[in-house]
Amino acid sequence: SESGPTTIVVLGASGDLAFKKTYPALFGLFANSFLPQTVKIVGYARSAIALPDFRARVSSKIKTTDQAALDKFLQLCTYVSGKYDDAPSFQNLNAFLEDVEGTKDPKGKTRVFYMALPPSVFIPASTGLKHWCYLGEGGKNRLVVEKPFGKDLASSQELGTALAANWKEEEIYRIDHYLGKEMVKSLMVLRFANVLFGAIWNRNHINNVQITFKEKFGTDGRGGYFDEFGIIRDIMQNHLLQVLTILAMDRPVTLSAEDVRNEKVKVLRAIKPLTLDETILGQYTASADKKEPGYLDDPTVPHGSTTPTYAAAVFKIHNERWEGVPFILKCGKALEESKVEIRVQFNDVAGNLYPSTVRNELVIRLQPKEAVYMKLMNKEPGLSTDLHVTELDLSYEKRYKDAKIPDAYESLILDCLKGDHSNFVRDDELELAWKIFTPLLHKIEGEKIQPELYQYGSRGPAAAQEFIERHGFQRDSSY
Ligand code: BG6
Repeated sequence: SESGPTTIVVLGASGDLAFKKTYPALFGLFANSFLPQTVKIVGYARSAIALPDFRARVSSKIKTTDQAALDKFLQLCTYVSGKYDDAPSFQNLNAFLEDVEGTKDPKGKTRVFYMALPPSVFIPASTGLKHWCYLGEGGKNRLVVEKPFGKDLASSQELGTALAANWKEEEIYRIDHYLGKEMVKSLMVLRFANVLFGAIWNRNHINNVQITFKEKFGTDGRGGYFDEFGIIRDIMQNHLLQVLTILAMDRPVTLSAEDVRNEKVKVLRAIKPLTLDETILGQYTASADKKEPGYLDDPTVPHGSTTPTYAAAVFKIHNERWEGVPFILKCGKALEESKVEIRVQFNDVAGNLYPSTVRNELVIRLQPKEAVYMKLMNKEPGLSTDLHVTELDLSYEKRYKDAKIPDAYESLILDCLKGDHSNFVRDDELELAWKIFTPLLHKIEGEKIQPELYQYGSRGPAAAQEFIERHGFQRDSSY
């Protein structure tokens, strides 16, 4: 806990991300007494909004039955309007902060600047904050940033250089909200606190790994943003790649943020840049019943756009542990269901005694309905000698009935308040992630590669199925 006042400044406080994610997460932490006693939350954005109106908007996105807690929380929230590229605005913000904190002396204070901002104002805002709102000697400053961190290696480096001119790496918290998800946080525990996985977690026992992200809705009014980035940048380059690195990394020397991230970086360095022939691209069309629009029917999407809304790619990790094991990452919008899961498929049993066995599979379902289960063979009970594919099942719903799974943002904001970087993306991780994807993205965009069409609500492009089987995945007929 901090000695002096802690102020969380939410920049872009009138935007979608702030209302949908940041404020509800702050409320969740507050309601469970995880915010420091002295905390104040200051919203900052361009529009002039009267405080009661601002509080009404914040509360409209918070689902709770605890009205008393909500009222108290809203009292902590204030709002200042100002520009993102203008010294007087930031001077005004600083004066406001000093007022809220009750002293001009930086000693013992903490300021968390949460940038829920569009990329276009990213550099001026972070520069303005540094010049006018940064706590001097004795104070702590933290800058929380959200993707997109650029569009490719060069633009990301440009952004990184601009940030590094004003902020030290240890002051920067790059959010990938997948790192705050319960099941992602549990991955290292599963791997490193269980002797049984440690021994078989390598190319001798694992045949292939699949990491799948499916969403059953389309761009839903975000077409303008989405079209500039596409599914590879929106999901695969960050969320799925992070999951891959945690699955594939070696045991870190300690659990310190630097030790953990050093191991993740080693995995990323062992992956060669992706190529188009190891990638499947798709774009959704209207649903079969025509009730759901196709991607190109979204009025915010440019005519004839070739931006992929589905992608599958195979990653090869060239090291002693993983050489030859395909890691297949798949993600798509407007599919038949919303689900995110990891499937680790083990090798066939050598010299198998039984007919009709299927491979063991460890499935970790991130959402919905968090679960870890191991698919294995068992004898059909009774006098039958038949085999039966069944599961050792750790479904959270059954095993942890009353547990409340926190939102990823709650977990990450708490880490940031504690100064723990373990679940944030380090600069070199980000750079390596872009190195893996940039040649592919440039090729897709430079040559306007036509994605394969798939229907809204389907399982994605037909070629994807053949693709994963070609890379070794064996589908069990009961699946
Ligand atoms: C965001 C993407 O990063 O993640 C969205 O920009 C996507 O397009 C979202 O919908 C998915 O997050 P979650 O937590 O719902 O799986």
